[in-house]
Amino acid sequence: MPFVGSFIPPGDKSVSHRLILMALLAEGETVIKGLSDGEDVASSLKAFRALGGEAKPEGENGLRIKGLAGHWPYFDGLEIDCGNSGTTMRLLSGILAGSKGRYILDGDDQLRRRPMERVAKPLRLMGARVDCHNGRPPLTIEGSSLNGINFSPADASAQVKGAVLLAGLLAHSPTTVTEISPTRAHTERLINYFHGQVTIEGLKLTVSPGILRLPPTFNTPGDPSSAAYFLTAAAIIPDSKVMAKNILLSTGRIGFLKVLSRMGAQVSITLTSDTPEPIGDVSVAYSGPLTGAEVLAPEIPTLIDEIPMLALAATQAHGETIFRQVDELRVKETDRLMSIRHQLGALGGRMSVEGDDLFIKGPTSFILPEKLDSGRDHRLAMTLKMALYAAKAQIPILGTESIAISYPNFEEHLNLLWRN
Ligand code: S3P
Repeated sequence: MPFVGSFIPPGDKSVSHRLILMALLAEGETVIKGLSDGEDVASSLKAFRALGGEAKPEGENGLRIKGLAGHWPYFDGLEIDCGNSGTTMRLLSGILAGSKGRYILDGDDQLRRRPMERVAKPLRLMGARVDCHNGRPPLTIEGSSLNGINFSPADASAQVKGAVLLAGLLAHSPTTVTEISPTRAHTERLINYFHGQVTIEGLKLTVSPGILRLPPTFNTPGDPSSAAYFLTAAAIIPDSKVMAKNILLSTGRIGFLKVLSRMGAQVSITLTSDTPEPIGDVSVAYSGPLTGAEVLAPEIPTLIDEIPMLALAATQAHGETIFRQVDELRVKETDRLMSIRHQLGALGGRMSVEGDDLFIKGPTSFILPEKLDSGRDHRLAMTLKMALYAAKAQIPILGTESIAISYPNFEEHLNLLWRN
């Protein structure tokens, strides 16, 4: 029983967050088609509206958004609930740091455990007042007039880079961010697409201050991180052949496809458009058992959210798979390194962690515990669902309601593609 057929995953989550939040700093009006309908992006939309932004559904699948061009009422202590969304909290921090007023950004129990000092630090250097609780939310931000800075984040994080670049739009002088490894480039590409200016020289990005301008329409590409569940499952379940249509193909996002190819999967990519980022269709067909691969540290940011699913593939591959320096996984919605190890381990996966490296030896036959627990981590929940399809077994998985954070129609696509 394989996965067969084609599907269009939900709108890309990273791009959707940025479209909404960047409208705070842009003039004009746009109709966004195919925005992510997950709970995470709903948190960004809620924040946009809390600041006075107007966003109304239009036509099939469209949202008309009016840019605020950096102008909203003065708020003294506006509380903004970012829900489960680290991207909302971090990117919004950059925008509020350069805006008049006092804001309190909070979130759910998982978000309250995530590190925020990594964004607070550069924003303070720029001149904002940012307080957190032991480096974690809630964050209190007192916006101020900002100076441009030269900043090299200690972690490879698109959210930190994004927050500093967005704050840089509001500063008095240019801001430079130099990354340690390339991360998803959506913020800089969208700033340029929205008539702002970011110059890119390798890992060094310099943003000039300025207000953005929205295009009349924007078609959100599909999310490769959502497509990854079905594409990777196709590589490990005999007779499968799956095509994800109209997905984002930026290099910072498709590291998992490169790793699947290295492991021996049959992957084909057709590019259909290139502006503002590459978009196209991706097929993966089962072509025999995979072999283990080593994934090096600089690749990790290009597949960070796909590691749970690649780890599942590694349990079915011949030989050893190594993910180097995956310590960032410890500060996701859960300690994902531990969740992967425990939950895939409960299914028979032979996993070990040495320092910050994850080692998986395969292939292993599935064993079935009484139940699995995603810890309400959406990416774990979908990976465990796929593991049970690969194992052709049904046992309870706790916390699958979290799937709505990024992929509300996941179940629908499971039913669409699964062939009995
Ligand atoms: C994201 C960046 C990544 C990723 C997250 C979305 C973004 O986080 O894991 O799901 O949209 O910028 P980090 O920047 O913390 O690595």
